[in-house]
Amino acid sequence: MRAVIAGTGGYLPARSVTNDELAAWKGLDTTDAWIVERTGIRRRHIAAEGETASDMGLAAARAALAAAGADASDVDAVIVATATPDSAFPSTATLIQGRLGSTRGFSFDVAAACTGFVYALGVADALVRCGQARGVLVIGTEVYSRILDWTDRGTCVLFGDGAGAVFLRGMPEAEAAGRGILSTHLHSDGRHGEILHVDGGAGSTGGTGVVRMAGKEVFRHAVAKLAAAVDEALAANRLAQSDVQWLVPHQANIRIIDAMGKKLGLPRERVVVTVDRHANTSAASIPLALAEAARDGRIARGDLVLMEAIGGGLTWGAALARF
Ligand code: ACO
Repeated sequence: MRAVIAGTGGYLPARSVTNDELAAWKGLDTTDAWIVERTGIRRRHIAAEGETASDMGLAAARAALAAAGADASDVDAVIVATATPDSAFPSTATLIQGRLGSTRGFSFDVAAACTGFVYALGVADALVRCGQARGVLVIGTEVYSRILDWTDRGTCVLFGDGAGAVFLRGMPEAEAAGRGILSTHLHSDGRHGEILHVDGGAGSTGGTGVVRMAGKEVFRHAVAKLAAAVDEALAANRLAQSDVQWLVPHQANIRIIDAMGKKLGLPRERVVVTVDRHANTSAASIPLALAEAARDGRIARGDLVLMEAIGGGLTWGAALARF
């Protein structure tokens, strides 16, 4: 069986905040010029009061199902990648399953920070290949605005809120005719947990519950580990860099994105970039970018798409899919 990406969808909260607006709103000692030069970020969306990861994920999921011409009765599994669930339980996936009105199958969350979508895609692909599910919603949804230290200008300017989703349809190899997820490559190294982490959480006895990051360290790991994951994905499929039609990277920083595009020898117009308008939406960033590029016609049926991400854990990985 092959897991074919039958539809994509995205959702962004209504409120979009520029760097200057953010600085004024939160009283930050920063400038638009500093943020743009170091990160490429110009604005980000911020969830409304009371708007949750399940609200946004549901909207993205509905859009993905509609794009696939599917509905809740086609869904066997809902997998949500998030670091900002509505609550410890029920899982955000189960909340979304319930609100979709899907009553068969199963649902669960995946925790791999910014690599969450690639992890969730890997799990979904495995479920489809082994026949445990046929229709799978894979959703990344995040409200990082609720886990940021708004007095720490080194982190709070980097993130935004939003959700993205894909609907995977299992098809026999012959019917898929080369389309579908070709492979996923997942990695983690818990020794580096401290350089990017949330300080405290539901089961913790202390901490502040906000993101802490050693930016330079993360940057150093990002370029080397993403390059290795991308090489691994291409080698596993006996593909060359020149076969890649679209790079859809995790959207953390334009300098990391540019470094990966350069490594692959891809011109800028073959790299899907949203970080300027969305900032880093963690697990939502890749499916949001996929949805945008599918909707505006850039990514077309048959195109080879390479995805890669790195995040807290450290976790990192890559995925290759033919649309
Ligand atoms: N505005 C103005 N000045 C700032 C800001 C800001 N928003 N943030 C930090 N500074 C200052 C610092 O205080 C420091 O000042 P000092 O020299 O007086 O001490 C100076 O700028 C340099 O700070 P650095 O942290 O060393 O800046 P750097 O050049 O490393 O850039 C950045 C910071 C943009 C975070 C960079 O390290 C980076 O992009 N790292 C990768 C982070 C990343 O991509 N994380 C996400 C990936 S994983 C995931 O998605 C969860």
